[in-house]
Amino acid sequence: MQPEDILREFQGTMRHIAAAVYAITTKVDGKRYGIVATAFSSVSFDPPSVLVCINQDASAHGPLMQADHFCVNVLGLANRDVADCFMTKKGEERFEVGEWQDEMDVPVLVNAQSSMICKTMDRHRFGTHTIFIGELVGAHHRDNAKPLTYYDRRYIDITAAPDHAIF
Ligand SMILES: Cc1cc2nc3c(=O)[nH]c(=O)nc-3n(C[C@H](O)[C@H](O)[C@H](O)COP(=O)(O)O)c2cc1C
Repeated sequence: MQPEDILREFQGTMRHIAAAVYAITTKVDGKRYGIVATAFSSVSFDPPSVLVCINQDASAHGPLMQADHFCVNVLGLANRDVADCFMTKKGEERFEVGEWQDEMDVPVLVNAQSSMICKTMDRHRFGTHTIFIGELVGAHHRDNAKPLTYYDRRYIDITAAPDHAIF
């Protein structure tokens, strides 16, 4: 296959994989930084660990390289305003929407579906991105499990499916 054909098929593949949406946040020298991301995965329960992939051109990349900790806020349907604010504002202005609290010196979204505060354990550059591996040093799960979901280039309400379970 030609590289452009592989890329087209890959982009189509990713477009049709429904993904949860995260606000990845950190703080450096008293300034908060954040980015909307879908490239997240749990790594293991022992130790409890996760990874996120961040574009090296993103404004939060430098701060994530510097910071000791970051927070993965799992966005719920009620946090759509935070996702929109992160995409339209820059720097500290991204935190004008939503209730944010500092915990272990990283911004935690108080009404996110879940928040995982991570100590950065590894950073691995690959291509245009850096993979940040974090070990959980704090976590909150709030039981309103209505995830904001990204699918086919738009946000959807996955709980609105008429029949959630397929037997
Ligand atoms: C739904 C969605 C998912 C995204 N996922 C990622 C991601 O996983 N990693 C990433 O680096 N950027 C991701 N982006 C792009 C960033 O949010 C951001 O727009 C881009 O990096 C530019 O950020 P900047 O304005 O802070 O430089 C995503 C954007 C959207 C809307």
